Amino acid sequence: MVDLTTTYLGLKLKNPLIASASPLSTKVETVQKLEQAGTSAVVMYSLFEEQIIHESLELDHYLFYGSEASPEFSSFYPQTGTYTLAPDAYIETVKKLKQAVHIPVIASLNGVSTGGWIKYARKIEEAGADALELNLYYLPTDPELTSLKLEESYVTLVRDIRKSIKLPIAVKLSPFFTAIPNIARRLADAGADGLVLFNRFYQPDLDLENLEVVPNIELSDSRELRLPLRWIAILYGRVKADLALTSGVHTCEDVLKAIMAGASTAMLASELLQNGIGRVPALLAEMEKWMEAHEYTSVQQMKGSLSQRTVNDPAAFERANYMKVLNSFKYLP
Ligand SMILES: Cc1cc2nc3c(=O)[nH]c(=O)nc-3n(C[C@H](O)[C@H](O)[C@H](O)COP(=O)(O)O)c2cc1C
Repeated sequence: MVDLTTTYLGLKLKNPLIASASPLSTKVETVQKLEQAGTSAVVMYSLFEEQIIHESLELDHYLFYGSEASPEFSSFYPQTGTYTLAPDAYIETVKKLKQAVHIPVIASLNGVSTGGWIKYARKIEEAGADALELNLYYLPTDPELTSLKLEESYVTLVRDIRKSIKLPIAVKLSPFFTAIPNIARRLADAGADGLVLFNRFYQPDLDLENLEVVPNIELSDSRELRLPLRWIAILYGRVKADLALTSGVHTCEDVLKAIMAGASTAMLASELLQNGIGRVPALLAEMEKWMEAHEYTSVQQMKGSLSQRTVNDPAAFERANYMKVLNSFKYLP
Protein backbone atom coordinates (compact mmCIF):
# COMPACT_ATOMS: atom_id res chain seq x y z
CA MET A 1 0.00 0.00 0.00
CA VAL A 2 1.33 3.42 -0.90
CA ASP A 3 0.96 6.36 1.47
CA LEU A 4 -1.03 9.11 -0.22
CA THR A 5 -1.15 11.46 2.77
CA THR A 6 0.08 15.01 2.49
CA THR A 7 0.06 18.13 4.61
CA TYR A 8 -1.30 21.44 3.41
CA LEU A 9 -1.65 24.62 5.52
CA GLY A 10 -0.87 22.55 8.58
CA LEU A 11 -3.79 20.22 7.80
CA LYS A 12 -3.07 16.52 7.54
CA LEU A 13 -4.85 15.32 4.40
CA LYS A 14 -5.50 11.72 3.40
CA ASN A 15 -4.45 12.43 -0.20
CA PRO A 16 -3.53 15.42 -2.39
CA LEU A 17 -6.88 15.73 -4.22
CA ILE A 18 -8.80 18.85 -3.18
CA ALA A 19 -12.00 20.14 -4.77
CA SER A 20 -11.17 23.67 -5.88
CA ALA A 21 -13.51 26.63 -5.38
CA SER A 22 -16.50 26.11 -7.68
CA PRO A 23 -20.27 25.59 -7.60
CA LEU A 24 -19.52 22.06 -6.30
CA SER A 25 -19.47 23.52 -2.80
CA THR A 26 -22.78 25.36 -2.93
CA LYS A 27 -24.80 22.32 -1.77
CA VAL A 28 -24.14 20.29 1.37
CA GLU A 29 -25.11 17.04 -0.40
CA THR A 30 -22.54 17.63 -3.13
CA VAL A 31 -19.79 18.21 -0.59
CA GLN A 32 -20.85 15.00 1.19
CA LYS A 33 -20.50 13.21 -2.14
CA LEU A 34 -17.04 14.73 -2.60
CA GLU A 35 -16.07 13.41 0.83
CA GLN A 36 -17.46 9.93 0.12
CA ALA A 37 -15.59 9.90 -3.19
CA GLY A 38 -12.30 10.42 -1.34
CA THR A 39 -11.63 14.13 -1.86
CA SER A 40 -9.33 15.16 0.99
CA ALA A 41 -10.62 18.72 1.46
CA VAL A 42 -12.92 21.19 -0.20
CA VAL A 43 -12.43 24.84 -1.02
CA MET A 44 -15.71 26.70 -0.95
CA TYR A 45 -16.89 29.03 -3.70
CA SER A 46 -15.80 32.61 -2.99
CA LEU A 47 -17.48 35.30 -1.02
CA PHE A 48 -16.71 38.49 -2.92
CA GLU A 49 -15.66 41.76 -1.37
CA GLU A 50 -18.25 43.51 -3.53
CA GLN A 51 -20.99 41.31 -2.09
CA ILE A 52 -20.04 42.43 1.38
CA ILE A 53 -19.70 46.14 0.89
CA HIS A 54 -22.58 46.56 -1.55
CA GLU A 55 -23.21 50.18 -2.51
CA SER A 56 -20.65 51.69 -0.19
CA LEU A 57 -17.78 50.16 -2.21
CA GLU A 58 -15.06 51.29 0.13
CA LEU A 59 -12.27 50.01 -2.05
CA ASP A 60 -8.95 51.73 -1.63
CA HIS A 61 -9.29 54.97 -3.51
CA TYR A 62 -6.04 54.51 -5.37
CA LEU A 63 -7.32 51.32 -6.86
CA PHE A 64 -10.66 52.64 -7.85
CA TYR A 65 -10.55 56.34 -8.50
CA GLY A 66 -11.85 57.27 -11.91
CA SER A 67 -14.84 55.83 -13.68
CA GLU A 68 -14.88 52.68 -11.61
CA ALA A 69 -15.64 54.65 -8.44
CA SER A 70 -19.00 55.75 -9.83
CA PRO A 71 -22.24 54.42 -8.38
CA GLU A 72 -22.81 52.48 -11.61
CA PHE A 73 -19.87 50.36 -10.51
CA SER A 74 -22.13 48.20 -8.39
CA SER A 75 -24.37 47.60 -11.39
CA PHE A 76 -21.51 45.75 -13.10
CA TYR A 77 -21.93 42.95 -10.64
CA PRO A 78 -24.42 40.16 -11.14
CA GLN A 79 -27.26 40.23 -8.65
CA THR A 80 -28.30 36.62 -9.18
CA GLY A 81 -26.51 33.46 -10.13
CA THR A 82 -25.17 30.20 -8.84
CA TYR A 83 -23.52 31.78 -5.84
CA THR A 84 -25.54 33.21 -3.02
CA LEU A 85 -24.86 36.91 -2.74
CA ALA A 86 -25.71 37.37 0.93
CA PRO A 87 -22.58 37.28 3.11
CA ASP A 88 -24.50 35.91 6.09
CA ALA A 89 -25.78 33.04 3.97
CA TYR A 90 -22.16 32.24 3.15
CA ILE A 91 -21.29 32.01 6.84
CA GLU A 92 -24.32 29.76 7.35
CA THR A 93 -23.06 27.50 4.55
CA VAL A 94 -19.65 27.24 6.26
CA LYS A 95 -21.41 26.11 9.47
CA LYS A 96 -23.62 23.62 7.63
CA LEU A 97 -20.68 22.12 5.74
CA LYS A 98 -18.68 21.77 8.94
CA GLN A 99 -21.55 19.86 10.54
CA ALA A 100 -22.06 17.65 7.50
CA VAL A 101 -18.55 16.50 6.63
CA HIS A 102 -15.31 15.49 8.37
CA ILE A 103 -12.89 16.67 5.68
CA PRO A 104 -11.40 20.15 6.07
CA VAL A 105 -13.50 23.00 4.68
CA ILE A 106 -11.46 25.88 3.30
CA ALA A 107 -13.52 29.05 2.91
CA SER A 108 -12.68 31.54 0.19
CA LEU A 109 -12.71 35.33 0.18
CA ASN A 110 -12.22 37.19 -3.07
CA GLY A 111 -11.12 40.78 -2.75
CA VAL A 112 -8.34 43.32 -3.16
CA SER A 113 -8.63 46.11 -0.61
CA THR A 114 -8.19 46.29 3.11
CA GLY A 115 -11.45 47.48 4.63
CA GLY A 116 -14.54 46.64 6.64
CA TRP A 117 -15.20 43.49 4.65
CA ILE A 118 -12.18 41.81 6.26
CA LYS A 119 -14.28 41.23 9.38
CA TYR A 120 -15.77 38.36 7.38
CA ALA A 121 -12.48 36.53 7.75
CA ARG A 122 -13.18 36.49 11.48
CA LYS A 123 -16.78 35.39 10.93
CA ILE A 124 -15.51 32.57 8.72
CA GLU A 125 -13.13 31.54 11.50
CA GLU A 126 -15.91 31.64 14.09
CA ALA A 127 -18.11 29.55 11.78
CA GLY A 128 -15.53 26.77 12.06
CA ALA A 129 -13.74 26.80 8.69
CA ASP A 130 -10.41 24.97 8.76
CA ALA A 131 -8.56 27.51 6.63
CA LEU A 132 -9.13 30.56 4.48
CA GLU A 133 -8.19 30.93 0.83
CA LEU A 134 -7.85 34.50 -0.37
CA ASN A 135 -8.41 34.98 -4.05
CA LEU A 136 -6.63 38.20 -4.97
CA TYR A 137 -8.22 39.24 -8.20
CA TYR A 138 -7.83 42.70 -9.58
CA LEU A 139 -7.32 43.57 -13.20
CA PRO A 140 -5.41 46.86 -13.35
CA THR A 141 -6.79 49.15 -16.05
CA ASP A 142 -5.46 52.46 -14.71
CA PRO A 143 -2.13 53.37 -16.35
CA GLU A 144 -1.19 55.33 -13.20
CA LEU A 145 -1.35 52.24 -11.02
CA THR A 146 2.07 50.64 -10.78
CA SER A 147 2.67 46.96 -10.24
CA LEU A 148 4.52 47.77 -7.02
CA LYS A 149 1.55 49.67 -5.64
CA LEU A 150 -0.86 46.90 -6.54
CA GLU A 151 1.42 44.26 -5.07
CA GLU A 152 1.74 46.32 -1.90
CA SER A 153 -2.04 46.36 -1.57
CA TYR A 154 -2.07 42.55 -1.83
CA VAL A 155 0.67 42.21 0.78
CA THR A 156 -1.06 44.68 3.12
CA LEU A 157 -4.31 42.79 2.76
CA VAL A 158 -2.68 39.48 3.66
CA ARG A 159 -0.89 41.11 6.60
CA ASP A 160 -4.15 42.66 7.87
CA ILE A 161 -6.06 39.40 7.62
CA ARG A 162 -3.16 37.52 9.23
CA LYS A 163 -3.43 39.89 12.21
CA SER A 164 -7.16 39.35 12.61
CA ILE A 165 -7.43 35.56 12.44
CA LYS A 166 -5.53 32.45 13.57
CA LEU A 167 -6.74 30.25 10.70
CA PRO A 168 -4.19 29.10 8.15
CA ILE A 169 -4.30 31.36 5.09
CA ALA A 170 -3.69 30.42 1.47
CA VAL A 171 -3.41 33.04 -1.25
CA LYS A 172 -4.66 32.23 -4.75
CA LEU A 173 -2.63 34.16 -7.26
CA SER A 174 -2.87 35.09 -10.88
CA PRO A 175 0.05 34.23 -13.17
CA PHE A 176 0.34 37.86 -14.29
CA PHE A 177 3.18 39.18 -12.17
CA THR A 178 6.49 40.38 -13.53
CA ALA A 179 8.44 38.69 -10.75
CA ILE A 180 6.42 35.81 -9.31
CA PRO A 181 9.08 34.54 -6.85
CA ASN A 182 9.33 37.98 -5.27
CA ILE A 183 5.60 38.47 -4.71
CA ALA A 184 5.35 34.85 -3.56
CA ARG A 185 8.02 35.44 -0.93
CA ARG A 186 6.48 38.73 0.22
CA LEU A 187 3.07 37.13 0.61
CA ALA A 188 4.60 34.29 2.60
CA ASP A 189 6.44 36.82 4.78
CA ALA A 190 3.14 38.69 5.29
CA GLY A 191 1.61 35.53 6.74
CA ALA A 192 0.39 33.34 3.90
CA ASP A 193 0.80 29.68 4.84
CA GLY A 194 0.11 28.52 1.31
CA LEU A 195 0.04 29.75 -2.27
CA VAL A 196 -2.47 28.48 -4.80
CA LEU A 197 -1.19 28.69 -8.36
CA PHE A 198 -2.93 29.87 -10.48
CA ASN A 199 -6.19 31.67 -10.60
CA ARG A 200 -7.71 31.13 -14.03
CA PHE A 201 -8.79 34.19 -15.94
CA TYR A 202 -11.98 34.14 -17.88
CA GLN A 203 -11.34 36.03 -21.07
CA PRO A 204 -14.52 37.64 -22.37
CA ASP A 205 -15.25 37.44 -26.08
CA LEU A 206 -16.91 40.03 -28.35
CA ASP A 207 -20.25 39.41 -30.01
CA LEU A 208 -19.91 41.13 -33.41
CA GLU A 209 -23.61 41.02 -34.28
CA ASN A 210 -24.91 42.49 -31.03
CA LEU A 211 -21.79 44.56 -30.35
CA GLU A 212 -21.54 43.20 -26.84
CA VAL A 213 -19.02 41.71 -24.53
CA VAL A 214 -19.88 38.06 -23.98
CA PRO A 215 -18.94 36.46 -20.68
CA ASN A 216 -17.33 33.20 -21.53
CA ILE A 217 -16.49 30.39 -19.11
CA GLU A 218 -14.63 27.59 -20.77
CA LEU A 219 -13.51 24.69 -18.67
CA SER A 220 -9.81 23.87 -18.70
CA ASP A 221 -7.90 20.97 -20.21
CA SER A 222 -4.58 19.36 -19.26
CA ARG A 223 -2.56 21.75 -21.42
CA GLU A 224 -3.22 24.47 -18.86
CA LEU A 225 -1.29 22.50 -16.28
CA ARG A 226 2.05 23.60 -17.67
CA LEU A 227 1.96 27.18 -16.44
CA PRO A 228 1.38 26.40 -12.75
CA LEU A 229 3.63 23.35 -13.08
CA ARG A 230 6.60 25.47 -14.16
CA TRP A 231 6.13 28.01 -11.39
CA ILE A 232 5.60 25.43 -8.68
CA ALA A 233 8.82 23.73 -9.79
CA ILE A 234 10.62 27.09 -9.53
CA LEU A 235 9.09 28.15 -6.20
CA TYR A 236 9.43 24.81 -4.40
CA GLY A 237 12.03 25.18 -1.68
CA ARG A 238 12.38 28.92 -2.37
CA VAL A 239 9.34 30.20 -0.47
CA LYS A 240 8.19 29.32 3.01
CA ALA A 241 4.66 28.37 2.02
CA ASP A 242 2.90 25.22 0.90
CA LEU A 243 2.11 25.15 -2.79
CA ALA A 244 -1.20 24.02 -4.27
CA LEU A 245 -1.68 23.58 -7.98
CA THR A 246 -4.91 24.63 -9.67
CA SER A 247 -5.62 24.86 -13.41
CA GLY A 248 -5.55 21.93 -15.77
CA VAL A 249 -5.62 18.97 -13.36
CA HIS A 250 -7.62 16.29 -15.18
CA THR A 251 -5.69 13.02 -15.18
CA CYS A 252 -3.65 10.88 -12.81
CA GLU A 253 -0.51 12.01 -14.67
CA ASP A 254 -1.47 15.66 -14.04
CA VAL A 255 -1.68 14.99 -10.29
CA LEU A 256 1.65 13.13 -10.26
CA LYS A 257 3.34 15.96 -12.19
CA ALA A 258 1.94 18.52 -9.74
CA ILE A 259 3.39 16.61 -6.79
CA MET A 260 6.75 15.98 -8.43
CA ALA A 261 6.99 19.69 -9.27
CA GLY A 262 6.54 20.42 -5.56
CA ALA A 263 2.81 20.87 -4.93
CA SER A 264 1.39 19.61 -1.67
CA THR A 265 -2.03 19.31 -3.24
CA ALA A 266 -3.65 19.21 -6.67
CA MET A 267 -6.97 21.01 -6.95
CA LEU A 268 -9.76 20.05 -9.31
CA ALA A 269 -12.69 22.01 -10.65
CA SER A 270 -13.22 21.58 -14.42
CA GLU A 271 -12.62 17.82 -14.36
CA LEU A 272 -15.22 17.25 -11.65
CA LEU A 273 -17.73 19.67 -13.17
CA GLN A 274 -17.36 18.02 -16.57
CA ASN A 275 -16.92 14.35 -15.78
CA GLY A 276 -18.41 14.02 -12.31
CA ILE A 277 -17.28 13.39 -8.77
CA GLY A 278 -16.67 9.73 -9.68
CA ARG A 279 -13.38 10.89 -11.18
CA VAL A 280 -11.94 11.23 -7.67
CA PRO A 281 -11.84 7.50 -6.76
CA ALA A 282 -10.69 6.70 -10.29
CA LEU A 283 -7.78 9.14 -10.01
CA LEU A 284 -6.82 7.85 -6.57
CA ALA A 285 -6.82 4.24 -7.79
CA GLU A 286 -4.69 5.17 -10.82
CA MET A 287 -2.27 7.08 -8.61
CA GLU A 288 -1.77 4.10 -6.31
CA LYS A 289 -1.28 1.79 -9.27
CA TRP A 290 1.26 4.09 -10.91
CA MET A 291 3.18 4.65 -7.69
CA GLU A 292 3.35 0.92 -6.96
CA ALA A 293 4.50 0.17 -10.50
CA HIS A 294 7.22 2.83 -10.19
CA GLU A 295 8.19 1.80 -6.67
CA TYR A 296 7.23 4.98 -4.90
CA THR A 297 6.04 4.38 -1.36
CA SER A 298 4.58 7.79 -0.55
CA VAL A 299 3.47 11.14 -1.93
CA GLN A 300 6.00 12.72 0.42
CA GLN A 301 8.79 10.80 -1.29
CA MET A 302 7.71 12.03 -4.75
CA LYS A 303 7.11 15.62 -3.71
CA GLY A 304 9.43 18.11 -5.39
CA SER A 305 11.51 15.39 -7.05
CA LEU A 306 11.20 17.20 -10.39
CA SER A 307 11.40 20.71 -8.94
CA GLN A 308 14.19 23.15 -9.65
CA ARG A 309 15.27 23.16 -6.02
CA THR A 310 18.68 21.75 -6.82
CA VAL A 311 19.17 23.93 -9.90
CA ASN A 312 21.63 26.69 -9.00
CA ASP A 313 20.39 29.22 -11.52
CA PRO A 314 16.78 28.44 -12.53
CA ALA A 315 16.63 31.52 -14.79
CA ALA A 316 19.58 30.30 -16.89
CA PHE A 317 18.09 26.80 -16.85
CA GLU A 318 14.78 28.19 -18.15
CA ARG A 319 16.54 30.12 -20.94
CA ALA A 320 18.50 27.06 -21.96
CA ASN A 321 15.28 25.04 -22.06
CA TYR A 322 13.60 27.74 -24.10
CA MET A 323 16.40 27.55 -26.68
CA LYS A 324 16.21 23.76 -26.65
CA VAL A 325 12.46 23.85 -27.28
CA LEU A 326 12.77 26.28 -30.20
CA ASN A 327 15.54 24.17 -31.70
CA SER A 328 13.48 21.01 -31.35
CA PHE A 329 10.94 22.26 -33.90
CA LYS A 330 11.66 20.67 -37.25
CA TYR A 331 10.66 22.96 -40.05
CA LEU A 332 11.06 21.50 -43.52
CA PRO A 333 10.51 24.21 -46.11
C1 LIG B 1 -17.84 27.55 -12.73
C2 LIG B 1 -16.61 27.91 -11.94
C3 LIG B 1 -16.73 28.67 -10.80
C4 LIG B 1 -15.59 29.03 -10.07
N1 LIG B 1 -15.73 29.79 -8.91
C5 LIG B 1 -14.61 30.15 -8.23
C6 LIG B 1 -14.71 30.91 -7.03
O1 LIG B 1 -15.79 31.24 -6.56
N2 LIG B 1 -13.56 31.26 -6.40
C7 LIG B 1 -12.34 30.91 -6.87
O2 LIG B 1 -11.32 31.24 -6.25
N3 LIG B 1 -12.21 30.16 -7.98
C8 LIG B 1 -13.30 29.79 -8.68
N4 LIG B 1 -13.18 29.04 -9.81
C9 LIG B 1 -11.84 28.66 -10.26
C10 LIG B 1 -11.49 27.23 -9.85
O3 LIG B 1 -11.42 27.11 -8.44
C11 LIG B 1 -10.13 26.80 -10.42
O4 LIG B 1 -9.07 27.54 -9.82
C12 LIG B 1 -10.03 26.99 -11.92
O5 LIG B 1 -11.22 26.56 -12.56
C13 LIG B 1 -8.86 26.20 -12.50
O6 LIG B 1 -8.94 24.85 -12.17
P1 LIG B 1 -9.49 23.71 -13.19
O7 LIG B 1 -8.56 23.69 -14.34
O8 LIG B 1 -9.45 22.45 -12.36
O9 LIG B 1 -10.87 24.12 -13.57
C14 LIG B 1 -14.30 28.64 -10.52
C15 LIG B 1 -14.21 27.84 -11.68
C16 LIG B 1 -15.32 27.47 -12.38
C17 LIG B 1 -15.18 26.63 -13.62
